Amino acid sequence: MIKKPEIRSYSSLSELSLAAAEYIAELAEARIKERNIFTLVLSGGSTPRQLYEKLANQPISNRIDWQHAHLFWGDERCVPPDNPDSNFSLAFETLISRVDLPPANIHRIPATTGSPKAAAEEYEKILREFFQAVGETDSIISFPSFDLVLLGMGVDGHTASLFPGDAALGEKTSWVVAVEGTSASPPVPRITLTFPVINEAKCVLFLASGSSKLQVIQEILNNPHTVTYPAAKVQPSGKLLWFIDEGLA
Ligand code: 6PG
Repeated sequence: MIKKPEIRSYSSLSELSLAAAEYIAELAEARIKERNIFTLVLSGGSTPRQLYEKLANQPISNRIDWQHAHLFWGDERCVPPDNPDSNFSLAFETLISRVDLPPANIHRIPATTGSPKAAAEEYEKILREFFQAVGETDSIISFPSFDLVLLGMGVDGHTASLFPGDAALGEKTSWVVAVEGTSASPPVPRITLTFPVINEAKCVLFLASGSSKLQVIQEILNNPHTVTYPAAKVQPSGKLLWFIDEGLA
């Protein structure tokens, strides 16, 4: 059964980002109160910058017990972590360097560890070890369930690093795969979570802003059965939210 997303529209990216930061803080408070841990998957690109800045600002930052929050990434470009094209570097500059997050709670994708395939296998190992350690899954369980997966969407309808027509769209068993030869910018290989992992999330929150995405967003939100765009294949067992700016509604 295709799940209809909950759509919230805002007058600006700033308003959208503030609402997303408040939503995340509220969810983190609840999860940490309930289970003493909050697992958050960050997205890349430019849209989440203001969100990460707002998460690091008072009073929102104070609402999150960072000692029990764990950060992961939905995808990463195969560049060094201090490269401006790295999704990690965006999060480090805007959030990680500004909150009291234990280094052990930062689960960065080692995107330049050997080949892209080796990096994907290494990240999957990191995830399996984490979820086993927190007792969420044993080693044979099929997929982990993150508390919140943040996603963006490109103008071609890609999400994370799952691009139209790529073989990664059909991955059914691996948690993490390497994606090479895409037309994405920057033109480097990428590491990405797969749909089975994304769709196991308790909550998926898309952030989308900018009129260039209007046609694709409307197709996806008005026609949930469409499979033209990778973002439409995000059908989580948990909650599905789209925070969009009014120009896209
Ligand atoms: C990436 C992102 C990607 C991003 C979209 C939207 O590594 O590029 O994870 O999926 O979310 O491309 O990017 P913008 O926010 O820059 O429009």
